[in-house]
Amino acid sequence: MSWPLTLAALQDTLSSGPRLGRTSWTAVRSGSDTPVGHFSLTLLDGGRTVRIGRILLDPRLRNQGLGLQLIRSAISAADATGAKTQTLAVLEGNDRAAHIYLSHGFEPTGETTVVPVEGVGWTSIEMSRPAPGRL
Ligand SMILES: CC(C)(COP(=O)(O)OP(=O)(O)OC[C@H]1O[C@@H](n2cnc3c(N)ncnc32)[C@H](O)[C@@H]1OP(=O)(O)O)[C@@H](O)C(=O)NCCC(=O)NCCS
Repeated sequence: MSWPLTLAALQDTLSSGPRLGRTSWTAVRSGSDTPVGHFSLTLLDGGRTVRIGRILLDPRLRNQGLGLQLIRSAISAADATGAKTQTLAVLEGNDRAAHIYLSHGFEPTGETTVVPVEGVGWTSIEMSRPAPGRL
């Protein structure tokens, strides 16, 4: 995904969300309506699993700790769903994102898939963590 999300991508996300059990979230700059980041949550397995996805921070704001805040917000929202397991995936080599996930209790499940990114196959690493109170 590249920043900013296009109107078409946002419309697609919003229109397909209910069918897929997915909600889309946008972080805004404090005191304004300016978007600074996005994430999504998808309920799976009848609500027993919540998948965090589409984490994206405005590139101009990266490397200042704001991505950490965005991901913590995603995890808090995932906690609030009551799902017992939280999952996500990270592309191999995305060490920054992986570092944040590992430091918040996500662990690789051992499952990987190859996903096409701009015509090239990238390894996507599955991670999961039990929701709080489910340890
Ligand atoms: C992933 C993303 C949200 C992180 O946001 P960010 O603002 O860049 O990251 P932050 O500055 O908040 O935090 C970075 C953390 O990673 C660490 N880090 C930075 N570069 C790193 C690297 N190459 N290897 C390991 N850790 C790294 C930092 O030290 C910091 O950890 P700390 O707080 O323990 O010191 C943002 O970079 C982004 O939107 N990337 C593009 C989309 C994406 O990759 N989404 C995730 C899909 S799984």
